[in-house]
Amino acid sequence: MRVLVTYASKNGSTEEIAEAIADELMAYGLDVECGSAHDADASDVDAVILGSAVYADRWLRPARRFLKEESDRLRGIPFWIFSSGPFGEQATSPTDDDLRWQEPPRVLSRAEALGVREHVVFGGRLPTEPHGFIENAMVRNTPDDARDARDWSAIRTWAASIAHELGAKERIGRPIVST
Ligand SMILES: Cc1cc2nc3c(=O)[nH]c(=O)nc-3n(C[C@H](O)[C@H](O)[C@H](O)COP(=O)(O)O)c2cc1C
Repeated sequence: MRVLVTYASKNGSTEEIAEAIADELMAYGLDVECGSAHDADASDVDAVILGSAVYADRWLRPARRFLKEESDRLRGIPFWIFSSGPFGEQATSPTDDDLRWQEPPRVLSRAEALGVREHVVFGGRLPTEPHGFIENAMVRNTPDDARDARDWSAIRTWAASIAHELGAKERIGRPIVST
């Protein structure tokens, strides 16, 4: 069972989420490839996990491209998608309005039409080196301890549930070390 974990990330935090997912799948004995959606293809894998950071209610282009260009392959294999983005209160207790910004509707409907197994939203992390007025304002207006809302335990639990769905029985890797 060969699994592709692929992602689009502008400031690196979604890449780290993808790596944690890949690491967990490997701990279940799966053969995992992890890399940017920019140059990934799904032709010789048996399952795919695709994730993107969300900016202004949209997935980043490499992830959108992958979903579109690999649609024939994705239709025939199990695949899962995740978005990463919210931080602060939007991550811990999102309102209905917040949720609209966290799950790009077009991506969701395309993925659902292809038979996606599940879509999840993980908390994100604000840029550590913000550029421009908007990023700087977002960072300034968010307390230090709310700037990184990635929940490593939720991320690894999700990856473990995928490993089970793919037929892996038990975790054979090293015990979880918090990231
Ligand atoms: C300018 C800007 C716009 C953003 N827009 C959204 C958004 O629409 N929805 C959301 O959930 N998160 C949004 N975020 C939060 C990012 O998705 C979050 O910082 C994410 O973890 C970045 O991932 P990356 O480090 O992989 O690029 C935005 C962040 C910035 C800086």
